[in-house]
Amino acid sequence: MIRKSGCVGSLFILLFISDVLSDKVIVDPSKCKVWGPGLTPDKIVHPARYFFIETFDKHGRINRPLPEKFNVKIIGTGPYGACRYQQNQIDRGDGSVIIRYKIIEWCDDIQISVKYNGSDIGDSPYHIRGRVHSSKCYCPQDLSTWLYNNKCPKQIEKITWDLQAFKKVNFTAIRTNLIKRYGGNPGGVSFCNYVIKNQEIYRTCHGKYTGFKMFPDATLLALGKVVMLPDMEFFINLGDWPLSKKGGQQRTSGPYPIFSWCGSSDSHDIVLPTYDLMESTLENMGRVSLDMLSAQEEEFSWKDKEDKAFWRGRDSRQERLDLVKLSRKYPNLINASLTNFFFFKDAELELGPKEAHIPFTEFFKFKYLINIDGTVAAYRMPFLLAGNSVVLKQESPFYEHFYSELKPLKHYIPLKRDLSDLIEKIQWAKKHESKVKEIIQNAREYVNENLLPVDIFCYHMVLFKEWSSRLISDITIDKDMEKVEQDFTCKCERHHIRDEL
Ligand SMILES: *[C@@H]1O[C@H](CO)[C@@H](O)[C@H](O)[C@H]1NC(C)=O
Ligand SMILES: *[C@@H]1O[C@H](CO)[C@@H](O)[C@H](O)[C@H]1NC(C)=O
Ligand SMILES: *[C@@H]1O[C@H](CO)[C@@H](O)[C@H](O)[C@H]1NC(C)=O
Repeated sequence: MIRKSGCVGSLFILLFISDVLSDKVIVDPSKCKVWGPGLTPDKIVHPARYFFIETFDKHGRINRPLPEKFNVKIIGTGPYGACRYQQNQIDRGDGSVIIRYKIIEWCDDIQISVKYNGSDIGDSPYHIRGRVHSSKCYCPQDLSTWLYNNKCPKQIEKITWDLQAFKKVNFTAIRTNLIKRYGGNPGGVSFCNYVIKNQEIYRTCHGKYTGFKMFPDATLLALGKVVMLPDMEFFINLGDWPLSKKGGQQRTSGPYPIFSWCGSSDSHDIVLPTYDLMESTLENMGRVSLDMLSAQEEEFSWKDKEDKAFWRGRDSRQERLDLVKLSRKYPNLINASLTNFFFFKDAELELGPKEAHIPFTEFFKFKYLINIDGTVAAYRMPFLLAGNSVVLKQESPFYEHFYSELKPLKHYIPLKRDLSDLIEKIQWAKKHESKVKEIIQNAREYVNENLLPVDIFCYHMVLFKEWSSRLISDITIDKDMEKVEQDFTCKCERHHIRDEL
């Protein structure tokens, strides 16, 4: 066994040397591969459309940053003459690039031209007949057409798993008790009851802090502009902690169905992609600077990174304090600091002063990124997985919607919950560079296949479709409910669905 791995080691060294010898990158445009949802913008509508390019030279797949940008143009006519759009390019540092663009209003009969060094690549120019709408246009596609166009999976295992406790749901029978159970006392939590009927959105919220209703509102409004939502009702938890605890009184009454952004092994909450992930989807190329595409930009090449583990965050869990203590003990291995003292104010004397926030992109200056729970799962996980550093993740009962698909030592390096193996794991990572790079590669592949805007939209719609089929109570709008008004800048001419009513 030992001899065998020695052999593999020298093979890697040979590959490494041949990589270094060919110092100049000359892209062969005829070999480049181009694919992604942004090439069918008439069918797949996103706030920012995106597609991928993989580059090759005479040796094969290029595996380093590219010397030049692609020349991408969208040619067509919009309401004000030439098609108006914004674009940018994300160089992932491994010879692949993400192109994204945002159509401002709508454009007719567009051509997407993608060139490198003067030559068309892939099947460029891509011709799209008819009108391409901005995601701000109100143009809902029929649900099954939309699912088909977006190539959404028919079933998602996690959704099937989450819904197994809810084969039939009669809200008429449980609504009053559910509201009493979670909102009926001063320590009650914040949650909203949504009803979707005929593509209109209504809600009533309960609890003290309901500001986060802006996230489900934004999600439903955005989805409602591109796809016909099934009539349905649901409750969504606006707080951190999962609510529908296993055991206790629910052994007899059955668990209450609640959508949450964080799940846990001891609860029945039905998990939706987090508001962070959803915002990154909706505000791609917009209000947020960090999203699942921009997080892939290579700012620091592997060889320039610090050979240390990095962490920043607030003091929302004991292990976070323990981590900072460890970093003081092992400054050559860990750079970790707290950015705020709120939960453990007394710890500031020993572990303070708090450090200023640093931009998330700077995290990737380090080879190893530690992910420790906050009050619940740390919602930065998808963004950490998207970059070219490896994630060391604490074992945890809390999870986001996709964690069950991640495998330790395939997508991340696992850490014991009490961090007792952290030092050992960092030392292991330092000694196993090629394995670490493989883990990073797997994680980024996972991200691009499962956590990009098309996947996040699909996850919601596959869940909503399945969910609506399990509701046996009538979908009615209570007179106390508030309507969430749809907002749009243009309307699709193909659809007159609402006008008929
Ligand atoms: C662009 O093409 C020219 C001629 O085909 C070639 O000499 C040059 O090296 C190319 N430049 C890049 C950056 O690939
Ligand atoms: C739902 O529950 C209500 C109240 O318990 C009951 O009257 C109704 O028949 C139930 N609906 C169905 C379809 O079972
Ligand atoms: C930790 O990292 C930050 C951000 O890169 C840097 O400013 C700081 O000097 C580092 N601290 C130590 C002790 O190396």
